[in-house]
Amino acid sequence: EINGLKLITSNLDVLLLGALVTLELTALAVAFGMILGLIFGLAKLSPQRRLIYGIATFYIDFFRGTPLFVQILLLYFGILPMFGHVGDFSAAVIACSLNSGAYIAEIVRAGIQAIDKGQMEAGRSLGMTHGQTMWYIILPQAYKVVIPPLINEFIAMLKDTSLVSLIGVSELTLRGKLLYSVSYNAAWVWGTVAIIYFIMTKLLAMLGDYVERRLATE
Ligand code: ARG
Repeated sequence: EINGLKLITSNLDVLLLGALVTLELTALAVAFGMILGLIFGLAKLSPQRRLIYGIATFYIDFFRGTPLFVQILLLYFGILPMFGHVGDFSAAVIACSLNSGAYIAEIVRAGIQAIDKGQMEAGRSLGMTHGQTMWYIILPQAYKVVIPPLINEFIAMLKDTSLVSLIGVSELTLRGKLLYSVSYNAAWVWGTVAIIYFIMTKLLAMLGDYVERRLATE
């Protein structure tokens, strides 16, 4: 058995490159997730539009109600091959974005509902349309409510991307598995992987606390 510390120091670059892939995947998933979340979150606020509301409800319930693990397998092996070859990283981005979008839709819906109803009534009574009031009056206020849970979603997604190691994306967890398979030093390998994840989530949580304090004093 190789000396643990030496194993880690001589392979730290390999793990850190994996952490970079993890961050990249998380950032893409949450960015696309925000677009999906805004669309489907707004759709969830229009129950009178039956079809759009129904589609949004199904989308959100499906992606929140089934394991991300299963969604990755379904998309990568079941759905995406029907559209031709889709690489493992692209498949991972698609799966994580769809999943994140469902969680963010709920964040968006809750954020908008947290804004006083009087704001919509005021906009409408000034002659603005529902859409104009939403865009110019409600959303600029809702974003403050939405930012802290969005940062939580970013942290949750960062950890959950470890599931894409399953389809061969060379992120932090897969690189940990490979390093373990050539060293059999579980304590050092998984200990280091855990520490790298922990540093990333801790930094994000600190950013979240900072932003929250800034927003509170505005
Ligand atoms: N851990 C849960 C699952 O496997 C949630 C995954 C998605 N998490 C998220 N924040 N988008 O289904």
